[in-house]
Amino acid sequence: MLSVNGIDTYYGLSHILFDVSIRVEKGEIVGLLGRNGAGKSTTMRSIMGLTPPKKGEIIFKGEVITGKKPYILFRKGIGYVPDDRRVFADLTVDDNLEIVYRREETWNKERVYSLFPALYEIKNRKAGFLSGGEQQMLTIARALMGSPELLLLDEPTEGLAPLIVKDLEEQILKLKEAGISILLSEQNIKSAMKLVSRAYVIDNGRIKFEGTRAELDENEEIKRRYLMV
Ligand SMILES: Nc1ncnc2c1ncn2[C@@H]1O[C@H](COP(=O)(O)OP(=O)(O)O)[C@@H](O)[C@H]1O
Ligand SMILES: [Mg+2]
Repeated sequence: MLSVNGIDTYYGLSHILFDVSIRVEKGEIVGLLGRNGAGKSTTMRSIMGLTPPKKGEIIFKGEVITGKKPYILFRKGIGYVPDDRRVFADLTVDDNLEIVYRREETWNKERVYSLFPALYEIKNRKAGFLSGGEQQMLTIARALMGSPELLLLDEPTEGLAPLIVKDLEEQILKLKEAGISILLSEQNIKSAMKLVSRAYVIDNGRIKFEGTRAELDENEEIKRRYLMV
């Protein structure tokens, strides 16, 4: 589904990612774990064409997509939920969903609302008045309207109350059941461990570990050195 092969990414002259490689197979949730500043968001931005890598290659469904524009990748079936939860504050929840380009109808508003019933309840509210958890649901819902085959979720649970996090975890698992492949970045592995089948640990822009959830769970050193446990 997705294969990131040895990418190097810069912000201006700052070299941020070093030889990062990641694979996501069809239908799996893969974790990209690491502490604040490790390079998780930069990896997501590199894939999505927002900060294209200077070296290496990114392949989606057999096609080289390195450096392609975000809207093109969205139309190819990559949904991106950035860490800033930005919504169109002056538009209602419903209109935030309505304006999304649709490449196919696998997902529509009815299906999105059935996944997020709480959003249906507030569909006529201006998005600027939503709580953090509601905004996060709306940004995920908006990505779903593009009927993605791959979803990039950048720290979806960050800063949210435990009950909301629990809801989100269940919703993310439902997305997997619906056949969507997911690359999920998280700082705190507790939430990620409930969701992922495999994980990568990134630190200082380098991949330090790659393995199954069980292998990570057993690796006390990696957890102690690079993750908050
Ligand atoms: N726009 C930017 N310009 C320069 N440096 C940046 C920018 N965004 C992030 N960085 C730096 O890149 C590194 C990786 O950041 P980031 O990918 O956001 O990490 P994470 O998402 O894991 O917290 C950090 O050292 C951060 O300071
Ligand atoms: Mg980040």
